[in-house]
Amino acid sequence: MNLIRTLIEGAGQSRNPLFRLGYRAIKALGALRRFLVSARIRSQVITRTIYKDQQFQAETASREDRYPELFAECQKRLAPLLNPRILCFGCSTGEEVFTLARYLPQAEITGVDINPWCLKQCTRTNRNDRLRFLHRNSAEFARADGFDAIFCMAVFQRTDPPDQETDTLGNRVHARPVRSRGGDAGSKAAAGRPVFPGRE
Ligand SMILES: C[S@@+](CC[C@H](N)C(=O)[O-])C[C@H]1O[C@@H](n2cnc3c(N)ncnc32)[C@H](O)[C@@H]1O
Repeated sequence: MNLIRTLIEGAGQSRNPLFRLGYRAIKALGALRRFLVSARIRSQVITRTIYKDQQFQAETASREDRYPELFAECQKRLAPLLNPRILCFGCSTGEEVFTLARYLPQAEITGVDINPWCLKQCTRTNRNDRLRFLHRNSAEFARADGFDAIFCMAVFQRTDPPDQETDTLGNRVHARPVRSRGGDAGSKAAAGRPVFPGRE
């Protein structure tokens, strides 16, 4: 299998135009096969076609408990609140939201995504009425405000968001005093200001 792969990749670098054409045809067939076989891939392509200027990245991969340290820290910081309100921006198929709901069962969590297929998977899986899932362009999300924490994980990886996007997101953080454990991020979060790690 590896040999075949190496030969195909080699054809892509070949001086012979027929080999290069063959290489491109094989790649195109592979992409077509993935599009036809996988509903997830199809949704990524369709979302990119419809929302191309708004989509920060097409990739929708996610998994349960993907950021355990961050979730545990969030659990500690939000523990004093009766019903913390959390936004998961770019929630994909909901694993982040469902995980956070286990760390913070008292939280109200809003998952937002641009990919309608992902949101359908979230709604299908969800059995918890403290969780809701919204499209990023929905009127309900436009009105949503007063979050105690915003997760925006693996969303701004491929395309830098315009400042306006991060400002609008950040402004939805409510300035409820959350007990801070110190540190730069802690004090900014406590002051109700957005924290974008690595972008300070
Ligand atoms: C790689 S997944 C990350 C999922 C989850 N946050 C995690 O870290 O496991 C990125 C998600 O961001 C979504 N996304 C991309 N651009 C977006 C936008 N402008 N608004 C909302 N969601 C967006 C994609 O559809 C995708 O589901």
